[in-house]
Amino acid sequence: MPKNIITISLAQEQDVEDIFHLLAPSVSSEIILPRSRENIREYLHNFLVAKSDGVLAGCVALRDFGDGLHEVRSLAVAPEFAGEGLGSKLVQQAVSLAVQRQGKMVFTLTVRPNLFLRMGFKVVANDYFPQKVWADCRLCPKKDRCNEIALCQELA
Ligand SMILES: CC(C)(COP(=O)(O)OP(=O)(O)OC[C@H]1O[C@@H](n2cnc3c(N)ncnc32)[C@H](O)[C@@H]1OP(=O)(O)O)[C@@H](O)C(=O)NCCC(=O)NCCS
Repeated sequence: MPKNIITISLAQEQDVEDIFHLLAPSVSSEIILPRSRENIREYLHNFLVAKSDGVLAGCVALRDFGDGLHEVRSLAVAPEFAGEGLGSKLVQQAVSLAVQRQGKMVFTLTVRPNLFLRMGFKVVANDYFPQKVWADCRLCPKKDRCNEIALCQELA
């Protein structure tokens, strides 16, 4: 049977609850930084959602640090949609969004570097982006045992 078509678009108000629940398991396992419903709602314009027949299959967010620097964050794909390239597509779309928003550089901190390496991201030192360190790392529960890899890609 053919698989349902998955569409990727900017998130809307009605997606907040589903995004919160999609992120929850990865937040519990400390792979994704905690985000409250209020925080997701406040930054909804930065979220892309992938849907199959109206069901949330995945999401990703882009954070604007200013001066053309954007972070790809809050990447998650529901287990039933995993391993078929959706995570990679979401990252590609987030990079395209950064380009549309006049971005010069995108970066991420991740436990899944292969996905980003395949797309041309390069590994850099974890403190290469001090803006991130000041915004999040200093408050992160894993700050003294960080297992994430920083990667970045320059945008044309
Ligand atoms: C990480 C995550 C988003 C990946 O989503 P996904 O849709 O499975 O991603 P992809 O399918 O693009 O890639 C996953 C694997 O599937 C395989 N794959 C990629 N494209 C494929 C395709 N077309 N067909 C079959 N397999 C494919 C690759 O081997 C890849 O593994 P690798 O990244 O270790 O090399 C998902 O596992 C997830 O939500 N994990 C929990 C949260 C998390 O880890 N977030 C990232 C931290 S920033």
